[in-house]
Amino acid sequence: MKHFLNTQDWTRPELDELLKQAAAFKTSKLGDQLKGKAVALVFFNPSLRTRTSFELGTFQMGGHAVVLAPGKDAWPIEFELGTVMDGDTEEHIAEVAKVLSSYVDLIAVRAFPKFVNWAEDRQDKVLNSFAKYATVPVINMETITHPCQELAHALALQEHFKTSDLRGKKYVLTWTYHPKALNTAVANSALTIATRMGMDVTLLCPTPEYVLDQRYMDWAKTNVAENGGSLSISHDIASAYQGADVVYAKSWGALPYFGDWEKEKPIRDQFKHFIVDEAKMALTNNGVFSHCLPLRRNVKATDGVMDSPNCIAIQEAGNRLHVQKAVMAALIKQ
Ligand code: CP
Repeated sequence: MKHFLNTQDWTRPELDELLKQAAAFKTSKLGDQLKGKAVALVFFNPSLRTRTSFELGTFQMGGHAVVLAPGKDAWPIEFELGTVMDGDTEEHIAEVAKVLSSYVDLIAVRAFPKFVNWAEDRQDKVLNSFAKYATVPVINMETITHPCQELAHALALQEHFKTSDLRGKKYVLTWTYHPKALNTAVANSALTIATRMGMDVTLLCPTPEYVLDQRYMDWAKTNVAENGGSLSISHDIASAYQGADVVYAKSWGALPYFGDWEKEKPIRDQFKHFIVDEAKMALTNNGVFSHCLPLRRNVKATDGVMDSPNCIAIQEAGNRLHVQKAVMAALIKQ
């Protein structure tokens, strides 16, 4: 049984087919791919886009979505094996995943890191535990990667450039400032999908401490070897932006300081100038800008960049609906 935990688990032809189906869903909204089926949407963290697009996508394909927030409107869940559950958790994932599987046909999970210990968080225990115990396919709605965002991003780029072949495009994934240390998920994912699409990818970040986890750097290297394109790391804003066709922005916490965020804060505060602004975008090849959203205006990107015709962040967010319908339809018919 196939899950959708990471795009890296899917072949390039399978991803291409998902994107093709997503484009078809965009022109033909209603269907019966999930007729009589149910989807559990399990949210351990807040959401605007993911929740709305999954609920609506399920509805538009004739299915029913049940939204659960463990610890809020559902029992708190234990994920450790062999634990004496005399603390705050009320039931074990072994039961939760099996019970949900007996009711629904797909389970989608959002579970951000706890932001205390990266060695622990990088195991993606919540998502992998659902996949381990569920007897129906599991979808990643963002944990330490965000594969649904990847597909929406790729589709938006294909639409913008009017081609499914993104090879040869100069792609910059730039770190941006945010007052808080954020999840690396979207950055890991952007690096993964941009290299998978064979683009010439630059990871622009303030210092070597902001380079992403080795697992995702390795995925990116593998993707370059298999799909062409290139991967480089830069700490120089001007040269990274020069001639870029795509600028994708995200803020994230430096992994060497994971869980020690007070120590990271004065370091990140030195790099507010990484904001995406009109002067930087002027260095690009009339480049397109995007971000996964939510975005703090005039902190991560200026009003001018967000309101520019070259900003496709809204289009990318809209594509979440279509790509997720393609993912659910593919998983349900396997
Ligand atoms: N980009 C994204 O996943 O948005 P939400 O956090 O609002 O779901």
